[in-house]
Amino acid sequence: MDASFSIRRRRASAVIVIFCICLVSLSSGARLSVTSQKLEVKRHLKRLNKPAVKSIQSPDGDIIDCIPISQQPAFDHPFLKDHKIEVKPSYHPDGLFTESKVSAERPKSNVQLWHLNGRCSEGTIPVRRTKEDDVLRASSVKRYGRKKQRAFPLPRSAKPEPDLINQNGHQHAIAYARGEFYGAKATMNVWEPKIQQPNEFSLSQIWILGGLFNEDLNSIEAGWQVSPDLYGDNNTRLFTYWTSDAYQATGCYNLLCSGFIQVNSEIAMGASISPVSAYRNSQYDIGILIWKDPKEGHWWMQFGSDYVLGYWPSFLFSYLTDSASTVEWGGEVVNSEPDGQHTTTQMGSGHFPEEGFGKASYFKNLQVVDSSNNLKAPSGLSTYTEQSNCYDVQIGSNSDWGHFFYYGGPGRNPNCL
Ligand SMILES: *[C@@H]1O[C@H](CO)[C@@H](O)[C@H](O)[C@H]1NC(C)=O
Repeated sequence: MDASFSIRRRRASAVIVIFCICLVSLSSGARLSVTSQKLEVKRHLKRLNKPAVKSIQSPDGDIIDCIPISQQPAFDHPFLKDHKIEVKPSYHPDGLFTESKVSAERPKSNVQLWHLNGRCSEGTIPVRRTKEDDVLRASSVKRYGRKKQRAFPLPRSAKPEPDLINQNGHQHAIAYARGEFYGAKATMNVWEPKIQQPNEFSLSQIWILGGLFNEDLNSIEAGWQVSPDLYGDNNTRLFTYWTSDAYQATGCYNLLCSGFIQVNSEIAMGASISPVSAYRNSQYDIGILIWKDPKEGHWWMQFGSDYVLGYWPSFLFSYLTDSASTVEWGGEVVNSEPDGQHTTTQMGSGHFPEEGFGKASYFKNLQVVDSSNNLKAPSGLSTYTEQSNCYDVQIGSNSDWGHFFYYGGPGRNPNCL
């Protein structure tokens, strides 16, 4: 069990003893507070795990529940009570959008591990079941499925101001563009970086950002992550995130709160990605496209070339109701400085950009959606990293990969202590 839970429990029982000197003994006070925590966890699990029409055991230990599309967690949101589900976007920015993209008429390959043991039928969506242990690993039931605050990179200028360095222990190596955007796309190399401490994570993603970098930042994020605290293992998993108030009260990973509306019956958020790339060996990548439907204003997400996953309804956001002002691509890790030194948690492949293809992790074919709703190469791409001796980023462009970059690193090393 997480240490902070037992500390909280101890403090709670101490309070009970002080106020109820005569009536309640220490042991029954402790039992009371354990029971109320158990109840809170139970209630939360009931909110997250909707009744399934079918459950599939994945070889990696996950249970995938097939939930009727109209019963998904999004519809617990009061604003979504009467929402009519959009079964597909009215517009697709790469001009290749045809019926086949959202229909079931295509050859099926086992894109996610759980496909080996079954499929969800049309009209249902696959949801990774949250287990009691998942919630107990979080610092509190409320924080489960949420990023710690201020987890976004702050590239205010090409040279970061000193007070921004290593803020809150989050480290980044990213490329970014500023302007007026209606989406972004990239192909990202997939690895399984090593995580030193369970409370740290390593992720690689696209950020779609709106607003200023303060209390009301709007963010939509998607990519892959390794997060032992969130998932209970070291697997690389597909994920999304959103917030409309800089990671304070709104938003969450995947479908762990009301927000994202999933329409796809084949891809489960938070499920493991397999296979992953190996050093000097086979390389694997995934494509992610996020774009704003110009008609309804919702932000849609597509995985690979075949899977339109669903959308974030426009009303969730303030700035992003209009357009995004910054797009970022790259890596983020948490450096909790275990043993007073920089973490050895890796970003990307755990190798620096200089090593290049097959060794360092990459993003390629970086694109943004412009105000005419067309995909195009971003102009004025910049890079940002807090400590380039720990994790670095190097951009380039060529005819084959368009705009691309290599990024990542090992964390602690003789130049990063
Ligand atoms: C995850 O990796 C760490 C080392 O990076 C290891 O100590 C831990 O046991 C692993 N956890 C699981 C669930 O495999």
